[in-house]
Amino acid sequence: KIVILDFGSQTTQLIARRVRELNTYCEILPYNKFPKGDESVKGVILSGSPFSVYDESAFKTDLSEIRGKYPVLGICYGAQFIAYTNGGKVEPAGSREYGRAHLSSFDKDNVLFKDVKENTQVWMSHGDTITVIPSNFKKIASTDKVAIAAYQIENEKVWGVQFHPEVFHSEDGTQMLKNFVVDVCGCKQDWSAASFIETTVAELKEQLGDDKVVLGLSGGVDSSVAAVLLNRAIGKNLTCIFVDHGMLRKNEFKNVLHDYECLGLNVIGVDASAKFFAELAGVTEPEEKRKIIGKGFIEVFDEEAHKIKDVKWLAQGTIYPDCIESLSITGTVIKSHHNVGGLPEKMHLKLCEPLRLLFKDEVRRVGRGLGMPEHLITRHPFPGPGLAVRILGDITPEKVAILQNADDIFIQGLRDWKVKDADGSETSLYHQVWQAGVILLSVQSVGVMGDERTYERAIALRAVTSTDAMTADWAHLPYEFLGKVSNDIINKVKGVNRVTYDISSKPPATIEWE
Ligand code: XMP
Repeated sequence: KIVILDFGSQTTQLIARRVRELNTYCEILPYNKFPKGDESVKGVILSGSPFSVYDESAFKTDLSEIRGKYPVLGICYGAQFIAYTNGGKVEPAGSREYGRAHLSSFDKDNVLFKDVKENTQVWMSHGDTITVIPSNFKKIASTDKVAIAAYQIENEKVWGVQFHPEVFHSEDGTQMLKNFVVDVCGCKQDWSAASFIETTVAELKEQLGDDKVVLGLSGGVDSSVAAVLLNRAIGKNLTCIFVDHGMLRKNEFKNVLHDYECLGLNVIGVDASAKFFAELAGVTEPEEKRKIIGKGFIEVFDEEAHKIKDVKWLAQGTIYPDCIESLSITGTVIKSHHNVGGLPEKMHLKLCEPLRLLFKDEVRRVGRGLGMPEHLITRHPFPGPGLAVRILGDITPEKVAILQNADDIFIQGLRDWKVKDADGSETSLYHQVWQAGVILLSVQSVGVMGDERTYERAIALRAVTSTDAMTADWAHLPYEFLGKVSNDIINKVKGVNRVTYDISSKPPATIEWE
């Protein structure tokens, strides 16, 4: 595997994504937690950082355990750090260098640049730049503005690049990472869903033996794939609990429960909607709604789990982005996600997280490898507190019903609207957007239907494109489509007389409204 030491850059996860796309296993670890003596490590990548090497609080680490033992690739700060600690000079760039640049010259014989196009575009984002390299370093690439865009230490397998090969706009970035990972480090590109399933099922059998395991299903991809994987390993010793908090999509509880049964899962569906409606009555503050649902969910789940004798393990569909040790510098809570944390502490169970090391698209590949139906695998993400965070203001069963009906028309519309994908194949708007839903606003507006004045609710449609939900853009849906959905909703959903479309990106907005 490749170890990526994280110095706090925004793009550290992207480096991991790229390496995984090469079907090579990699892990992100904090900059000072290199796993000494781990024989499976084949190479090390040092990430970028928000700091300058001169900052007092800059993350620094001792590379003596790494240099000479493993190939090293330093990216941006990583490259500056190696140069600086070896006597090179790093200085503030005249102006922050940000954006596209071209490698106007590079050493074509250097293995890092194998199969890289002349004048290839790279992406720069740095405040400091390396101005002098130590005498045993050789410059291997430049751009018009940056003399030392890349270097290698002579007679050592240590490289540094000032640009970011991991970002999409570095045209040959993936090729460079491949040259490092495959040609230099010798990683075999043998990660596949089938091999993951085989080894994970064997490990789960070994780890769990005859123990009983309980797992909370949400209807989402992650928990569903975790359940099917565990079911393959331990069969009926796995009990799944699917709680209906009353804030699910129209008919979702019934439909998803049916899907789970068809997959052969041992699943208990619990309709706890009355409890949640009672506890949420009159509550308008978003964080308070989230807390009530989080707490209520734990109570219901705990009660059900206690009905099963001798449960030893709690399984969860946690995935890699949920658990990478974050070097986040601010730590402000924007929204509390109820499904991470809480349960394990309360239940005194051992934790089993078979998807802990996978990215979302890898989870989907595993789901397909397990033969799960496509509609479960390609489902949009849906927030744990469900429609509760899409109803602004207080929640009532009537409002939930209005929202469910409007949402159903929008989502079904996206599924039915066929379009051509970039490669010419047929797909639907549903598959082109990352996530979509409807928000019930807390305002009413005047309208006219027939000869009657109406005074009814306004809703907002929300659809975004994204790759990881960290950032998102509003989806540029066709006007004809938006027009049709608007008409359908106003004509069919009683209580709604106005439809708007949310055109905010994240940041500064978030995907959900609460
Ligand atoms: P925001 O609104 O923060 O949402 O831009 C980012 C992504 O997270 C989803 N989301 C949640 N997912 N539990 C979840 O599992 C939650 O409590 C929760 N809140 C938001 C949201 O739908 C989007 O995909």
